[in-house]
Amino acid sequence: MSSASKLRVALLGATGETGSSIMRGLLASTQPHYEITALARAASVNKPALLEYKKQGVQIAAVDLDGPEDALAATLKDFDVVISAIGPAELMQQVQLANACKAAGVGRFVPCCFATIVPPKGILVLRDIKEDIINHIKKIYLPYTIIDVGWWYNTTLPRLPSGKIDYALPPYEQSIAGEGTTPYALTDVGDIGIYTARIVGDPRTLNKYVFAYTELKTQLEIYDLIEKLSGEKVVRNHVSREDIAGGVAKAEATKLVVGTPEFYQLAIFQYWNTWGVRGDNQPEYAKYLGYLLAKDLYPDLQGKPYLQYCQEVLDGRAHGVYKGITFFE
Ligand SMILES: NC(=O)c1ccc[n+]([C@@H]2O[C@H](COP(=O)([O-])OP(=O)(O)OC[C@H]3O[C@@H](n4cnc5c(N)ncnc54)[C@H](OP(=O)(O)O)[C@@H]3O)[C@@H](O)[C@H]2O)c1
Repeated sequence: MSSASKLRVALLGATGETGSSIMRGLLASTQPHYEITALARAASVNKPALLEYKKQGVQIAAVDLDGPEDALAATLKDFDVVISAIGPAELMQQVQLANACKAAGVGRFVPCCFATIVPPKGILVLRDIKEDIINHIKKIYLPYTIIDVGWWYNTTLPRLPSGKIDYALPPYEQSIAGEGTTPYALTDVGDIGIYTARIVGDPRTLNKYVFAYTELKTQLEIYDLIEKLSGEKVVRNHVSREDIAGGVAKAEATKLVVGTPEFYQLAIFQYWNTWGVRGDNQPEYAKYLGYLLAKDLYPDLQGKPYLQYCQEVLDGRAHGVYKGITFFE
């Protein structure tokens, strides 16, 4: 720790969905207080979001994850915590980041997970990549914390016939996995930072996995709730267990490259399988895998209730994700 009262934290990915939530959480945190540096590619250091953080006291450092490791290590020297919220297509670049953290003597590295609870290998292609990074961290004996958060509230709701909540929905149609009766853990994307700020300043979470989720719901509960609150009837497009199994088999037979249209078309079957059919994304399974639960560590910390999120969506006040992104062409 560089000063008596502040932990020095570096965050990579602060312009992204997860990273911007983490930045807001770090800025708002008082216990502990953080001295924050945003790590960004040289081409991104002047993005408006980063300039805005700069006004709030955040330092900005340009990094090149493909550049010389000693230059990266020099930038990371004396940081207590380095958090990565890198995008899904760039996850493997964290090997260089982890190596540089090790060389710099960083106190704790938080690789980019921030997702659902999934078995370590063989179920979800994105988790497989994240586990490769986690294995690398362990191989080089780098202090770490793994944080997972469940499924974002912000990608759960179906369209309403009136179109009034389209602004808050991702640019693809929702489907119900199987019968829609499997509970899955959910968190508002805006709360990821509040959880993360608490977890990375806590000595109890060093070299541990933490599951920070807010609520458990089934898809049928979500569809019933939005119908009740809106007074509108939604289309219930169920994908059968057989079709999910077929999609999973196709995904397994295909070498999926993250970020390609094929990836988005097939990886969704793996998600439906893990959280909709297998029911992996639940606290009991997380505990079985060795996770600590944020609800146990911080009973005072309450995420936004799902009901409140729905009301904000209907009132036109919600945060929509993936704006301007096309997934399937
Ligand atoms: N739980 C869920 O439901 C859920 C949903 C979606 C995603 N996720 C997870 O959340 C994580 C982050 O995804 P996201 O959607 O939040 O990411 P995102 O919005 O795509 O943001 C990616 C960030 O990474 C930065 N970045 C990419 N390559 C970089 C590089 N080489 N050097 C420095 N910075 C780089 C980008 O910076 P630039 O400004 O330079 O582009 C951007 O800030 C992923 O692990 C994903 O699996 C979870």
